[in-house]
Amino acid sequence: MIDIHSHIIPFVDDGPPDWDIAIQMAKQAYADGIRGIVATPHHKSGRYINPGHEVVQWVGLLNEKIQEMNMDLVVFTGQEVRVHAELLASLRNGDLLNLHESRYMLLELPSTSVPTYAEDIVYELSLLGIQAIIAHPERNAEIANNPMLLSRLIEAGALSQITAQSITGHFGRKLQKISLHLCKLNAVHFVATDAHDPVKRVFCLSECYHYIERKLGVEWIHYFKGNAEKVINDEPIHQPRDQIKEKRSGLYSNFLGKFR
Ligand SMILES: [Fe+2]
Repeated sequence: MIDIHSHIIPFVDDGPPDWDIAIQMAKQAYADGIRGIVATPHHKSGRYINPGHEVVQWVGLLNEKIQEMNMDLVVFTGQEVRVHAELLASLRNGDLLNLHESRYMLLELPSTSVPTYAEDIVYELSLLGIQAIIAHPERNAEIANNPMLLSRLIEAGALSQITAQSITGHFGRKLQKISLHLCKLNAVHFVATDAHDPVKRVFCLSECYHYIERKLGVEWIHYFKGNAEKVINDEPIHQPRDQIKEKRSGLYSNFLGKFR
């Protein structure tokens, strides 16, 4: 399994505070069946700045430590870039990293709102050949109340990634309900752990996929797992309604029908 969103690099953000805990996290991911982790430290979050060239160095060091343990696990470079008005300037400066140098960039919205310029940025990125992946839209208060806001971002060119622990219910029933609802609206393209530590915000993809199998059906597991691999291979990703062959109600079919 591939995990496209994690905070496994020590010292750089609210992830592990030292190498020992970062290695504990790597072992946990491996035990969960994960073989590829995209490291996505926060960048321009208001609290953390981690320009691309620094992330590349940290990921190199982490991979060296993992190789010393003979663990069949690879960490890839990435960032979780906060949507900010000067994002395109940051891109030109070379500060931003896509996920494993693919066409995909992980974008984080503020938790309370969807900035008015977010749609324009997603569209401008698409013109540059970069496809934004909206990180954990279920945790954005405006999207939770009005999923059409997410559909507009998808229409502008974005994909979206739900957090595994939102789906499994570790963040409460409300987030779990919203997460499953967004999946059923065909507005989700990935699940990822957004792991931060080995105790609370953990690597738990297998538990999440088991839950998805029970609640949504096995075809969704194939869709989500396949999409994570497509990121690493830099391959195009299709909308879920083109991949998931389940019968849908008219409401679900119509919601994202225009994105075909
Ligand atoms: Fe994150």
